[in-house]
Amino acid sequence: MSRLFTPTQVGPYRLSHRIVMAPLTRMRSDPGDIPSDLMVKYYTQRASDGGLIVSEATPVSIRGYGYAGAPGIYSDTQIAGWQRVTDAVHANGGRIFLQLWHVGRQSHVDLQPNGEAPVAPSAIAAEGHAYTKRGEAPFSMPRALELREIPGIIEEFRSGAERALRAGFDGVEIHGANGYLPDQFLQDGTNERTDEYGGPIENRARFLLEVTQAAISVWGSDRVGVRISPSGTYGSMSDSNPPATFGYVTTELDRLGIAYLHVVEPRIKGTEEISHGQAPIATQHLRPKFSRTLIAAGGFAPASAEAIVTSGDADLVAFGRHFISNPDLPERLRRGLPLSRYDRSTFYGGDARGYTDYPTADLASAA
Ligand SMILES: Cc1cc2nc3c(=O)[nH]c(=O)nc-3n(C[C@H](O)[C@H](O)[C@H](O)COP(=O)(O)O)c2cc1C
Repeated sequence: MSRLFTPTQVGPYRLSHRIVMAPLTRMRSDPGDIPSDLMVKYYTQRASDGGLIVSEATPVSIRGYGYAGAPGIYSDTQIAGWQRVTDAVHANGGRIFLQLWHVGRQSHVDLQPNGEAPVAPSAIAAEGHAYTKRGEAPFSMPRALELREIPGIIEEFRSGAERALRAGFDGVEIHGANGYLPDQFLQDGTNERTDEYGGPIENRARFLLEVTQAAISVWGSDRVGVRISPSGTYGSMSDSNPPATFGYVTTELDRLGIAYLHVVEPRIKGTEEISHGQAPIATQHLRPKFSRTLIAAGGFAPASAEAIVTSGDADLVAFGRHFISNPDLPERLRRGLPLSRYDRSTFYGGDARGYTDYPTADLASAA
């Protein structure tokens, strides 16, 4: 019997299977960064009875933007758009958490108010590209946040969490992974601050923990999750002692009583597989330090997903790329059906092609 298809609990929610749709930025919102009709269709297709979806990363402020076309949660006008998404997921019996996002230095001046520099813990640029309205552009040099600005950013996360509540979500996930702002504070390769947000890990973790507490103040601890990517190198990230950094963070998040910890394995660099065949080491390392639900992500196939939930190193497994091309992924895994291949060229931006036109297994076999 497959353990992936045994019930489990995430916070107050009982799920009927352990396959999570990973957060996936697809950049298909309407002007005003409002969720579009196409997005409603896309999430409807991927909602399953008793299954959990984590929404695409959603900026909590204009400064938190790095990908033109991503939907926002920084203004009240975006709430009604999201409500259509959450209603559709609930109508199919699913649950959906909103991923709260601030890209920090992974942005470009063209995306920032008045063409200002993006903000970061320290003025150190990342290598890579932001997605502006005119196409890809190298990340701009960021400026270091003043100490007095930090409470304002934490407040942006809190108000984003509050709007998510008003939009009918079941909870929120803090995007603490993949080299975005909370991760930039955590890892010492991007944080050279000498105030209480830099230096020892107790200080570097402060920003993520305060953001998490802000979300908890809105939702209660059992409907807040946090995503981290220990040893992740996406966004030019590095840390001198990842086991100590992420061990500390995990222990503290456990103390806060959050619903789940979502761990991206370092064999994945953002969206690319860099270490084929490497076992899920981060999840295994952190499991003893976290007492509630643990979600593993990054490079899982049906067999390795089954193996990790059977071993107990994770309670659920999030799939990213396979969920893009297999809207009925849980059903396919349950029936042992083959998976459709994804088309990388349509991942970011565009229209229905490569977004809502992947067929379910039944339609594919009828074609
Ligand atoms: C197109 C695309 C967009 C992504 N967007 C996000 C995102 O918004 N937030 C996030 O935490 N991870 C994001 N990721 C990473 C995935 O959630 C996941 O960790 C990664 O794809 C590895 O899982 P997989 O091997 O199952 O695809 C994205 C990945 C892809 C391919």
